[in-house]
Amino acid sequence: MAKTDEEIRSAVRTSYAAIALQQDSCCSPSPAQIGYDPDELTDLPDEAVMGLGCGNPVAMAGIAEGDTVLDLGSGGGIDVFLAARKTGPTGRVIGVDMTPEMLERAEANAVRLGLGNVEFRQGLIEELPVADGTVDVIISNCVINLAPDKAAVFAEAFRVLRPGGRLVVSDMVTDGPLPESIADDPENWASCIGGALPESVYLEGIRTAGFVDVAVLKKEGRSPLFSITVEATRL
Ligand SMILES: C[S@@+](CC[C@H](N)C(=O)[O-])C[C@H]1O[C@@H](n2cnc3c(N)ncnc32)[C@H](O)[C@@H]1O
Repeated sequence: MAKTDEEIRSAVRTSYAAIALQQDSCCSPSPAQIGYDPDELTDLPDEAVMGLGCGNPVAMAGIAEGDTVLDLGSGGGIDVFLAARKTGPTGRVIGVDMTPEMLERAEANAVRLGLGNVEFRQGLIEELPVADGTVDVIISNCVINLAPDKAAVFAEAFRVLRPGGRLVVSDMVTDGPLPESIADDPENWASCIGGALPESVYLEGIRTAGFVDVAVLKKEGRSPLFSITVEATRL
């Protein structure tokens, strides 16, 4: 039987809470394999480099000094910290995540780094705790596939961006619909498989929210499940 949105979120939250409590960075592939330059990670605490992403959206987001950046599903904070380097002290970066244990890990990492221009907020990316039209650039790394209501995520991203603002996200997609048996298992959602949409449906979802100039900047991996980095603009 199909799971409810709340059952899926609960399974995803439980899974990432357990990962957040692990002492070491946890997963493969290595950061270099998913698009990070090892040099850009050397100054980050090990606890921030968790291997949970599927791209490097910050590298392609064109973040400028003074920008306000929002990271959807910020995890241990890796992309928040990389973005904060680019905004400098005159800008700021907000990370939103629904898992309290992950927020605690990210906040501890921010203290280790002594960063004053980053902030982590608890919330759903489907109901962002962010005011309308206040963000210059939204980034996200391997998170939107985990959200049961992707239309709400894209609508919320559109709402909080200022006119001219950009969305640059890396995420897992497929080249066709997944068998129901895979999509119905919340464990598969937590592994970034069960909630992955066909690429064309994902891109159409971004357009339906009102974004223009939707373009795939990078593809990684092989059929049937692969990652894309997409950019889109709010006019
Ligand atoms: C695969 S990890 C990616 C973390 C981070 N972006 C990175 O690259 O390391 C997914 C993160 O998204 C969060 N998350 C999943 N679904 C969410 C939702 N609907 N709303 C807010 N956060 C969510 C999880 O708690 C977890 O921290």
